[in-house]
Amino acid sequence: MTTPKLEELRQLRAQSQLGGGEQRIQRQREAGKLTARERINLLLDRGSFREIDAFVTHREINFGMADKKISGDSVVTGWGTIDSRLVYVFSQDFTVFGGSLSQVHAEKVCKIMDMAMRNGAPVIGINDSGGARIQEGVVSLGGYADIFLRNTLASGVVPQISAIMGPCAGGAVYSPALTDFIFMVKNTSHMFITGPDVVKAVTGEDVTFEELGGAMTHNQISGVAHMAANSEADCLYLIRELFSYLPSNNMEDPPFQPPRDDALRTEVALDTLAPDNPNKPYDIKDAIHLIMDDGMFFEIQEHFAQNIVVGFARLGGHPVGIVANQPMVLAGVLDISASEKAGRFVRFCDCFNIPLIVFEDVPGFLPGINQEHGGIIRHGAKLLYAFCEATVPKITVVTRKAYGGAYCVMNSKHIRADLNLAWPTAEIAVMGPDGAVNIIFRRELAEAEDPVARKAELVDEYRERFANPYAAARRGYIDDVIEPSQTRPRLINALNMLQNKRDHNPPKKHGNIPL
Ligand code: HXC
Repeated sequence: MTTPKLEELRQLRAQSQLGGGEQRIQRQREAGKLTARERINLLLDRGSFREIDAFVTHREINFGMADKKISGDSVVTGWGTIDSRLVYVFSQDFTVFGGSLSQVHAEKVCKIMDMAMRNGAPVIGINDSGGARIQEGVVSLGGYADIFLRNTLASGVVPQISAIMGPCAGGAVYSPALTDFIFMVKNTSHMFITGPDVVKAVTGEDVTFEELGGAMTHNQISGVAHMAANSEADCLYLIRELFSYLPSNNMEDPPFQPPRDDALRTEVALDTLAPDNPNKPYDIKDAIHLIMDDGMFFEIQEHFAQNIVVGFARLGGHPVGIVANQPMVLAGVLDISASEKAGRFVRFCDCFNIPLIVFEDVPGFLPGINQEHGGIIRHGAKLLYAFCEATVPKITVVTRKAYGGAYCVMNSKHIRADLNLAWPTAEIAVMGPDGAVNIIFRRELAEAEDPVARKAELVDEYRERFANPYAAARRGYIDDVIEPSQTRPRLINALNMLQNKRDHNPPKKHGNIPL
């Protein structure tokens, strides 16, 4: 059935759906990119998207803009579902003034962010924009600031996820940077404060867009991004997957999925995973895959600071956040990047009620002038602070080394870990046997007839006394020494035991994490 009024509505809607028009849509495709609406449709459950503000137009009259109005302006906003759970989404439309941010563009984004906060649902932003709408000047800058404020207020209340699917430059980068996770697409997405031309003019450096701010640059070098997808479709799929581990807001528990995997499953391969020789590496991800439900592990920041591994998995159907030292890279040492990466991840999990499982094999903090001058003291303190303040269930498994300050930092009993388990291969001490003997027996070694043989003896003695889990277990710093094959059932049992955990920090406005 139709009436003139219905006809008018349908026409207006169809016009708005076309964004900047066929020609610009064609240009978007030629650049290897999907349109704003195609992206939303791939992200959300089929047919679930409800658009709002499709008839909004910009208010600028200067620069001949009065007769260049496009219904909906340069962003598509609304809500829909992922796995039947509500999410709010905005998707910048590059076909309309290059997706640039006008006053009304900002108002549309702010409107759905406000709704997300009121209704306790995540916000997913798809970024593809030339930045501030140049014709609108300071009004556009104000619009960005309105969004930054909401990003900050929503932080820790609802999960915020950013997908970068085109340019994201200048101050515009700070909205994604304030969100919890940034996904980028290889070759077609770029983030930078100033582009290659400005870099060349100011510093004389030659750099391509990709080298300066491409997906791998931010996933591998800067640590700004958390995921690098091969294509836009891949990126949107990965966001759906991440979403399956997250609660909708900070008052909810993360989504339980009835497990298919046996909670009592043991893995004998774990009994020999950590080599007796403490200098021999092994891949901690092998342990993670063997222990977690269905061998699944959704790794975050896979390419950055690979000496620490973080990500999500499930145990007995419950989502958990994993933090694990990686003996395969730099012997699993903690450095500036690893501390920042893991610290931020721990805080995310704590915001959103996701229990933390820590696998510890850490020889200490990385020595060196670069690290000291780079502020390893301040950055390492971030990870310590994050573990200390976290009140979610916290469980540690010491698989091998737990030395020095790193022992304290990596979710030790003393900083409110709920359960600290160790494999028999664990070595818990102030420092490794070699270094310790050099210091405490310096004089004796200098005077020894055969210093090499004497040192070997002393190292063995030290290892016997300290390089095992029992000194710590005797004091209750380790709650139990377990057979590695039993790790999965022990962790699931512990999570069940901690299901109703309630802990809190003293009332305060907020802490002062060493940023
Ligand atoms: C208005 C813009 C625009 C902008 C692009 N367009 N950016 N319109 N304001 N910021 C328009 C273009 O005029 C063009 O319109 C269409 O979008 C596509 O742009 P092209 O240049 O043809 O596309 P492409 O070659 O792919 O280049 C994309 C681009 C380039 C790299 C993003 O457009 C560009 O450099 N834009 C300016 C970026 C910039 O300096 N922005 C301000 C940054 S400062 P037609 O009609 O031809 O299709 C900033 C401050 C934020 O953002 C501060 C927050 C605190």
